[in-house]
Amino acid sequence: MTTTTTTTPGPAPTGPAPDPDRVADFAGEMLETLARGATALMVSIGHRTGLFDTIAGMAPASSHEIAAAAGLHERYVREWLGAMTVSHVVVHDRAADTYRLPVEHAALLTRAAGPDNLASQLQFIPMLAQVEEGIVRCFAEGGGLGYDAFARFDRLMAEQSAQTNDAALLDRIVPLVDGLDDRLRTGIRVADIGCGQGHALNLLAHAYPESDFHGYDFLPDAVAAARGEADAFGLGNVHVEVRDVADLSGTGTFGLITAFDAVHDQAYPARVLAQVAEHLDADGTFLMVDMDASSTVDDNIDVPWAPFLYTVSTMHCLTVSLAQGGEGLGTVWGRQTAQRMLADAGFSDVSVASVPDDFVNAYYVARH
Ligand SMILES: C[S@@+](CC[C@H](N)C(=O)[O-])C[C@H]1O[C@@H](n2cnc3c(N)ncnc32)[C@H](O)[C@@H]1O
Repeated sequence: MTTTTTTTPGPAPTGPAPDPDRVADFAGEMLETLARGATALMVSIGHRTGLFDTIAGMAPASSHEIAAAAGLHERYVREWLGAMTVSHVVVHDRAADTYRLPVEHAALLTRAAGPDNLASQLQFIPMLAQVEEGIVRCFAEGGGLGYDAFARFDRLMAEQSAQTNDAALLDRIVPLVDGLDDRLRTGIRVADIGCGQGHALNLLAHAYPESDFHGYDFLPDAVAAARGEADAFGLGNVHVEVRDVADLSGTGTFGLITAFDAVHDQAYPARVLAQVAEHLDADGTFLMVDMDASSTVDDNIDVPWAPFLYTVSTMHCLTVSLAQGGEGLGTVWGRQTAQRMLADAGFSDVSVASVPDDFVNAYYVARH
């Protein structure tokens, strides 16, 4: 195998000769990127096959024992264990030929880790890689890839947000809005725009039976999943509808409107924010949860997960917006742009909060 993929020669380099030490350093960085990219694929497989959960519950074990416990083919499991050993994720005992997952790693790689499960998060890497061909084409031709190009996105997004919301929605996120718990207990109308598979909506509806919850998403499969979960929870106060949230006419007004990670990938985000403002009660609150970043690229340079944000933007959020002829706001629209757009939409009182242990999201609490 070769790592060289260029098929057409690039332009001849101009300017001063490269500093060989800096070339060597950068080569090291790129090779590390190659190795970590490969590790990301294998960590994702470890999550999807349940291998991390299996090993976490075992004493040091051979590849045969691990494969048997997981119900998987030993030859694949052994190769995966090789990748995990050289990536320093699992520890191999050479003499005994057994593998173990240190408890400190299990705390970040298993389903029992809940919102701390980074193996679940790493599934985004192979999911995004599936659309690389189409994205390369968009670079040349413009336009975008629509939601139908992302078969797994809905499910993966739902898995991620469920981890966060199960851990934090009721205890940490609702209290960010002064008096919200009391108002939800008394009974208000709530809308969740871009609700996806609706887990946040259903958690709230379960906790606050006196309030009435309306979920809107334009993907029929997501809406069906949201309804299915509401039925499974036995909720009579949840109404989920296929709707483009750029037009909320006829829905009435709400005491609370939420948007969980659902504004930056809109085709027409300014229109959506204006609709939210129009459909909020005079004393209502818009709670917008969105990726935390600066709107200025240089301010994001030392943010460790910023490369992921720009990547998921290019390969999902930006492209789905452009596919609809939209504005292509992008995942990294950042606090400054978000605050300006909220002000433009008519919100005069906007504060930005964060939730302990959630370093990815900013929580915008906006009022008229
Ligand atoms: C990143 S997902 C977030 C889903 C969900 N809120 C969550 O946290 O799991 C964004 C959602 O917004 C929905 N969406 C995007 N544009 C929309 C529009 N104009 N009208 C309705 N839904 C939209 C997408 O279908 C997707 O389900």
